[in-house]
Amino acid sequence: MTTLETYDAIGRSYSTRRQPDPRLAARIDALIGCDNTVLNVGAGTGSYEPVRSGVVAVEPSTVMLSQRGSSAAPAVRAVAEALPFQDHAFDVVLAILTVHHWNDQRRGLKECARVAQDRVVILTWDPCAEGFWLVRDYFPEILAIDRRIFPSMELLAAVLGPIDVQSLPIPGDCVDGFLGAYWLRPEAYLNEEVRAGISTFSRLASIEPQLERLERDLTSGNWERRNAELRHRPDLDMGYRLVMAERRCAELPNERCS
Ligand SMILES: C[S@@+](CC[C@H](N)C(=O)[O-])C[C@H]1O[C@@H](n2cnc3c(N)ncnc32)[C@H](O)[C@@H]1O
Repeated sequence: MTTLETYDAIGRSYSTRRQPDPRLAARIDALIGCDNTVLNVGAGTGSYEPVRSGVVAVEPSTVMLSQRGSSAAPAVRAVAEALPFQDHAFDVVLAILTVHHWNDQRRGLKECARVAQDRVVILTWDPCAEGFWLVRDYFPEILAIDRRIFPSMELLAAVLGPIDVQSLPIPGDCVDGFLGAYWLRPEAYLNEEVRAGISTFSRLASIEPQLERLERDLTSGNWERRNAELRHRPDLDMGYRLVMAERRCAELPNERCS
């Protein structure tokens, strides 16, 4: 299944399950800045997209485009690998949890760098990270898939130039619905609607035996015993990373950027 087919198939309830979390949004907003022009690539339904003028979205899936609200930025149906904009057309290019879906990540990243005047801001997951209990104890195949499909920090730096990488711990009551969002609400993963908002589940051949084991561990208290220390944490670093690449530094002589 191509990524486009994935989102045309699984994206139908995306806007109900994938709402932006305000704490994560604040971290992203701080990197975007204000009063500048923004291109949101792989924008989906518009989560974490600034709601103001000067913002344009790029999204290939018609199902995702159809769920964008009336106040969302104007959207163009296109892919990251061929952005239909001139060089330096936007101050900031944003890519939130999307690079791992691109067919040609290197080409898409080059396109982001080409179109950005000031900086590229990416939210992604570091494939060197350990993940968390769900992938460690129940779905190691998700960890294997994600390690294969998420871009390495080395690839990002190789294409974008020097990058600033910040960890993004996820709050235990995260409002969004990506894979790691329910780390403190284990029973949520038993819910089919929750899983429908998480694309990696659609890549697995079988999930029932793993889910049955999770359900048994929750009922018996095994999960609680094994993960007791999580109950004391407000948030968890599972490997989500905010990556920022300054374009001015990449293009101007060194002395201007020191
Ligand atoms: C997990 S969703 C993230 C959507 C949104 N950025 C958010 O944070 O809610 C990934 C998005 O990437 C889009 N996508 C897939 N392949 C793409 C490509 N080659 N170029 C741009 N976007 C792509 C999908 O259609 C989907 O909307």
